[in-house]
Amino acid sequence: MGIPINVGVIGCGAIIAQYLTNFRRLDSINLVAVADLDPARAQAVADSYDGVRALTVDQLLAADDVELVLNLTIPAAHADIALKAIAAGKSVYGEKPLAATTGEAREVLDAAAAAGVVVGCAPDTVLGTGIQTARKAIDDGLIGAPVSATATMATPGHERWHPNPDFYYQPGGGPLLDMGPYYVSALVTLLGPVVSVVGAASHTRSERTIGSGPREGQKVPVDIDSHVTGVLVHASGALSTLFMSFDAVKTKSPNIEVHGQTGSLIVPDPNHFDGDVQLFALGAEEWETLPVSAGYVDSGRGFGIADLAATPAGQEPRAGGQLAFHALEVMESVLDSAKTGQSVAIKSTVARPASVELAELSTGVRA
Ligand SMILES: NC(=O)c1ccc[n+]([C@@H]2O[C@H](COP(=O)([O-])OP(=O)(O)OC[C@H]3O[C@@H](n4cnc5c(N)ncnc54)[C@H](O)[C@@H]3O)[C@@H](O)[C@H]2O)c1
Repeated sequence: MGIPINVGVIGCGAIIAQYLTNFRRLDSINLVAVADLDPARAQAVADSYDGVRALTVDQLLAADDVELVLNLTIPAAHADIALKAIAAGKSVYGEKPLAATTGEAREVLDAAAAAGVVVGCAPDTVLGTGIQTARKAIDDGLIGAPVSATATMATPGHERWHPNPDFYYQPGGGPLLDMGPYYVSALVTLLGPVVSVVGAASHTRSERTIGSGPREGQKVPVDIDSHVTGVLVHASGALSTLFMSFDAVKTKSPNIEVHGQTGSLIVPDPNHFDGDVQLFALGAEEWETLPVSAGYVDSGRGFGIADLAATPAGQEPRAGGQLAFHALEVMESVLDSAKTGQSVAIKSTVARPASVELAELSTGVRA
């Protein structure tokens, strides 16, 4: 792959707008084509972005000028589209989770390894200044050896704002698989890989009501646990407590806290790219906001693809398939543990991705 990298997008739904905004700011990304099961959605994107053509999925997979397929379909389709793209010789970068199950995700990674193509996966929020500044604070010893973390995500449910929220309530969705990738990827970035988990989960309602758009008022069935808690045991010995809920109204707790023997750290929302990192050092009188010291400045969804394009051949990209697989195995195992009541050992492991120096990737806005 060269820079700029030629990207074709499959899946032109709610999230593509954020990628388009950022692709206009990233010289290293050249969007060439888009496709969707609904041709009108692909055409609307092509009409809005200079030089982009709307294709069918098969045409996009066969297009010679597409080097990397950005997979923005729903979770249930992630593996199928990724495998088709890999079979066509393309690298892939997918929205999270990597696949609906670790079984499917393993097939994707194995197929990519056999084909010699690269797998990247959201979230790339961990490359922004928020998580990277927190990571640097930990690596610089500002809290001493990390002992524990809490990760809290509380919302009444995405059906309140998403016009087609069905997939959030089907296998592959739920608060953990939907929002957990941000939190688990951040926790692994901050504290390293996970070796075992325990979980507990609950299911409150069998239906949800769509709150916006043309289907407002329609009910969608709920086939997942909508409140999930868990404890992750990191290889370092640190323990992270997860709270992921579509059954809560609001929380004032920070999204992530990390505690060490000589300091406590408030880490900003891992679903955002920036935000303040706060430190309460042992013996201090109050919280101190740390200066931004690492990460891609003013970044957004899609910066992980620019990072992937700049990764030397043969090296795992930071927002890479291995991290996404590990995060998925951790989440799937929390849900398994919730069913069986037993602790689950995590088979995969992953190195903490290389830290990101404070850097500006965006170069201004194109048409
Ligand atoms: N909506 C958000 O705010 C948000 C934020 C972060 C990540 N994500 C992730 O992005 C992904 C997409 O979410 P979304 O909200 O854009 O969903 P969406 O339902 O709005 O859009 C998905 C699009 O993919 C198309 N599609 C589905 N299966 C396909 C297939 N097999 N081939 C071609 N096209 C297909 C659909 O027609 C639709 O246009 C999900 O993995 C989600 O977790 C969404």
